[in-house]
Amino acid sequence: MEHLIETSIVQLREQIGKERVICGLSGGVDSSVVAALVSKAVGEQLTCIYVNSGLMRKGETEAVQDIFAKHFKTNLVVVDAEARFLKELAGVTDPQQKRKIIGKTFIDVFSEEAGKVDGAKFLAQGTIYPDIVESGGTADKPSATIKFHHNVGGLPEDLEFDLVEPLRHLYKEDVRQWGRALGLPEEIVSRHPFPGPGLAVRCLGEVTKKKLDILREADAILLQEIRNAGFYNQTSQVFAVFLPVQSVGVKNGERIYDNVIAVRCISTKDFMTASWTRLPYELLETISTRIIQEVEGISRVVYDVSPKPPATIEWE
Ligand code: XMP
Repeated sequence: MEHLIETSIVQLREQIGKERVICGLSGGVDSSVVAALVSKAVGEQLTCIYVNSGLMRKGETEAVQDIFAKHFKTNLVVVDAEARFLKELAGVTDPQQKRKIIGKTFIDVFSEEAGKVDGAKFLAQGTIYPDIVESGGTADKPSATIKFHHNVGGLPEDLEFDLVEPLRHLYKEDVRQWGRALGLPEEIVSRHPFPGPGLAVRCLGEVTKKKLDILREADAILLQEIRNAGFYNQTSQVFAVFLPVQSVGVKNGERIYDNVIAVRCISTKDFMTASWTRLPYELLETISTRIIQEVEGISRVVYDVSPKPPATIEWE
């Protein structure tokens, strides 16, 4: 594998020459490995752009900045676009409409920032082999903008960059191995997938900052307990969902009428089918008790026991 990585670095140097490259960093495995690889190949010719949509999990933007500073010797531009995304999403409840708006806003913000990188000729993206297959392509044909398409709905035609896709022959497991070999921390390398539209599709109904903040708190507790119990690497995806359903409870001696958090924890090989993970009851109890006690605005926690199919992994 080291040999393959070295070959890829040499090829990247040949392809890129002295030109400048931009890379959209999401904090996920694929984009991080691409950034690490391109940064090894051409160092400061690379500029990474991270868009904070306000739809990220608790502490995620800070973690990306932190990991980036430790592991990459290149420029990182963090764009705070929370207000813009929330404004565009105001009043929207339809899941597909949310996806469209997020995709378009992401492209607009990304294009604006990319345009500020003087003389950038290349766009590096973390397209992997399954992305190509899902989009009906083959590994040897230029894929246009598959990864962007997959995650956010496609780049505009006038964004003229040559694509650099060094992971296009790899499966996810290979990408993780490459990440380890490149010295990326396990926290990035063994990360569960996180959808492009982020928490917007886990915050059912209209997306507001208040609901997102509640969801972020509940999700952080859930992840912390799952990690502490050693279940993170034994599961495929774990997350909290904010349900805009009100339910009665009693907190600190007072009657409350607050919202509900659903916990989704699934095990799968390919994400096409999935079963709900049989978490120990004691762990579920710790998670639900902590969320209800510590998160303002939540009166009840439910565990999602729906298989895929027919239920999808995400709730929207
Ligand atoms: P579903 O909900 O379709 O999820 O069973 C299967 C996998 O895809 C992820 N997912 C998305 N990823 N944009 C993404 O980048 C999306 O709109 C999207 N919707 C679902 C989901 O998290 C799971 O890993």
